[in-house]
Amino acid sequence: MPALETITTLSALRPATATLRESGSLALVPTMGALHEGHLTLVREARRAADHVAVSIFVNPRQFGANEDLDAYPRQLARDSALLANEGVALLWAPPPSEVYPDGYATNISVAGASDGLCGADRPGHFDGVATVVCKLFNQVRPDLAFFGEKDWQQLAVIRRMARDLDLVLPHADAIYGVPIAREADGLAMSSRNAYLSTEQRSIAAALPRAMREAIARLSIGNAAEPVLADLARHLIDSGFDTVDYAELRHGDNLVPATAVAPGTRLFVAARIGGTRLIDNMAAD
Ligand code: PAF
Repeated sequence: MPALETITTLSALRPATATLRESGSLALVPTMGALHEGHLTLVREARRAADHVAVSIFVNPRQFGANEDLDAYPRQLARDSALLANEGVALLWAPPPSEVYPDGYATNISVAGASDGLCGADRPGHFDGVATVVCKLFNQVRPDLAFFGEKDWQQLAVIRRMARDLDLVLPHADAIYGVPIAREADGLAMSSRNAYLSTEQRSIAAALPRAMREAIARLSIGNAAEPVLADLARHLIDSGFDTVDYAELRHGDNLVPATAVAPGTRLFVAARIGGTRLIDNMAAD
């Protein structure tokens, strides 16, 4: 297995990706690091689909709100690169913020529609930050394919819309793949933020996927969404969650709200325990 090459400057990235592309296709898995099994699932999918895999690790300041956890976000580059080397990743792109947003940087990408509501309502500007950095990562690495986790379903919708609207070539919108959510044994969706939970909070967190499955069971026998979603939110609070930011049924492809289950609908929930915000989504059709 060839050694993992870690690159931190654009001038070194260009020749390294060009060399990889000479001997086959290149897939990119964009991440913010603090890698867990969910990220490694993306990497394995990428390895199956492409000859070479690049992973980016960049904690993107533009997608964090003023009161969010940018400084506290876990940074573990040595540990992450050991994990990636073990997965046969060819290239780790780990630029410092000054390489991505040099002095005078002024451009923002804003994707209307897909960015509205759900996490977009609770985190103003978040998806502009995501779309902007992902577009830059695509242009920097120029991968044939890119892989994202379906846990961030809305993010994936924003990125696909952006790729279509801007006529991106590498990767083409059709070569942006979503990978199903990796879950812990009790059903909790894997997330770097799970590391913030105390033991007690971690056991409360398991109520989220359980309550979502129960809600989907009620929806699937024909109950209207509104009362089921209100019960779901109440149930989460009773289980120890502090707040429920949203519990919504939407069409998975265009994120338009739905009043009852139909082909392609999904249940989306964001809820907080202490300072930790957990999100999840599941097919509800
Ligand atoms: O999902 C993430 O980790 C980030 O939002 C991404 C896509 C790497 C952009 O910073």
